[in-house]
Amino acid sequence: MTELFPELAMSLDALRALQLERLRATLRHAYDNQAPYRAKCQAAGVHPQDLRTLDDLSRFPFTEKGDLRDAYPYGMLAIPRERCVRVHASSGTTGRPTVVGYSAKDIATWGELMARSLYAGGARPGDIIHNAYGYGLFTGGLGAHYGAERLGCTVVPMSGGFGERQVQLIREFGARVVLMTPSYMLAIADEFERQGIDPRDTAMRIGIFGAEPWTEAMRAEIERRLGIDAVDIYGLSEVMGPGVACEFVESKDGPTIWEDHFYPEIIDPVSGRPVAEGEPGELVFTTLSKEAMPVVRYRTRDLTRLMPGSVTAMRRMAKITGRSDDMLIVRGVNLFPSQVEEQILRDPALSGHYVIELSRSGALDDLLVRAEAREAQEEEERARSVADLVQRLKGMCGLTAEVEIAAPGGIERSLGKARRVIDRRPKV
Ligand code: DLL
Repeated sequence: MTELFPELAMSLDALRALQLERLRATLRHAYDNQAPYRAKCQAAGVHPQDLRTLDDLSRFPFTEKGDLRDAYPYGMLAIPRERCVRVHASSGTTGRPTVVGYSAKDIATWGELMARSLYAGGARPGDIIHNAYGYGLFTGGLGAHYGAERLGCTVVPMSGGFGERQVQLIREFGARVVLMTPSYMLAIADEFERQGIDPRDTAMRIGIFGAEPWTEAMRAEIERRLGIDAVDIYGLSEVMGPGVACEFVESKDGPTIWEDHFYPEIIDPVSGRPVAEGEPGELVFTTLSKEAMPVVRYRTRDLTRLMPGSVTAMRRMAKITGRSDDMLIVRGVNLFPSQVEEQILRDPALSGHYVIELSRSGALDDLLVRAEAREAQEEEERARSVADLVQRLKGMCGLTAEVEIAAPGGIERSLGKARRVIDRRPKV
C-alpha cells in the first residue's frame, strides 16, 4: 500500500506539522488572492499571521455556500481564470449553481487522491473499472475517471442511465470494480434480476459508492444482493469532488479523510463553535493544497463525527447521518431520511427504494413513507409490512406515519443522487 501511496505511512506528528505548514500557506493564498475571503477576515479582525497552531484556525471566518454563489461565476478564483484548466458546477437546484475551478496542479492532485481512494476501496492497477457516476459538470464522473486512469486501471466511462446497458457492459467488459451512487446500484441490482442474471456470475467484486447519504443497513442490502464489498467514498465539489475521504475495504469503518490535503473540523451547526473531540456536528473543511479555489473553513452542512485513524494516522469520519438542510421537522420532531431508511430495511420483504412525502392538512404535518416490496406480496403480507413499519417508525421517532408499500418497481429510480423527500407543505 505504502509503496504506491507513501503518504499513508505518515506518522501523526509528521502529519500535524505538514498540516500547519500547508494551512499557513493556504490562509496566505486565500487572503492575498480571494477578495471575498480577505474582506471576511478584515471584518473579523484576523490576519493569516494570527495562525500559530492548528487550533488557531477556529478564529478564522467560515466560508459558506452563499459566499460561492455571491461570487458566481469566477469571483472565488485565487488564480487568473486563464490558468484554470477546468470548471465544475453544482446542480443548483435552488438558485445559482456554485462554480469551482481547478488549475493543472489541482487536477493532478485530485487524480492522485482519487487513485488513493480507489486503492483504499480495493481497486488495484490493472483492474477494469465501470464508472457510472455522471460525466459532465457533476464532479463524480470525471473525478473518478481521472483517478482510475491514474491508478493504472482500464476505465469504462459509462456515466449514469441506460440500466439495461449498464448490466450488459458490467458483464461483458468484465469490471471488477463499479462506481456509482448506492441508490443507483440498487436499481442496477433490480435490472440484473429482471434480466435473470446472477451478479455473482460476473467479475464484479467491489462497489465504491457515494455522493449521497446511505446507511449501514443499505450497505448490508447491497452486499447481500450483489455479492460484492460495498465501500463508502465521500467528497464535495466545493472542496474538490469525490475522493476527499474513502473507506478501506478491509476495515469498512468509515471513510479516512485525506488529511494531508483537507483539514477537517466538527462544529456545532447552531453556535458555530468546535465541538469536543469525537462529538457529532457539522463537518467543516479547509483545503491544504488547492491553487485555483482554496476554501477556508467551508461549512459542508454534512453531519458526522471524527474518529481516530485505524489503517492510517489520518482521522476517519462516521457515516454521514444527513445534511443539516435535509433534516425534516415533522410536527416538531427532527427526522433524517437515513433514520427512515434504517427502519424500512429491517423488513426483509422491503427493498431499499423509498420516498418520504410531507404535506399539511389543517395545522398538522402529514408524513407518508412510501416503501417498495422486494417481490409481489399477498394482501395480508403487505398489511403486515405496513403495520410493522408504522410501529417501528413510531418507536423510533414518536411520529405516526402513513405507510404505503408499492409493488416492485413502483418507486421512481434515480440515475444519480436519489431524491428521498418530497415536501409539499406550504413554505412559511
Ligand atoms: O457528490 C462528489 C462525489 C461524487 C462524492 C461521487 C462521492 C462520489 P456534490 O455534488 O458537490 O459532490 O455533493 C456533495 O453529497 O456534501 C454530501 O451531502 C453528499 N455526499 C457525498 N458523498 C457522500 C457519502 C459529490 N459518501 C454532497 N455519504 C456532500 C453521504 C455524501 N453523503
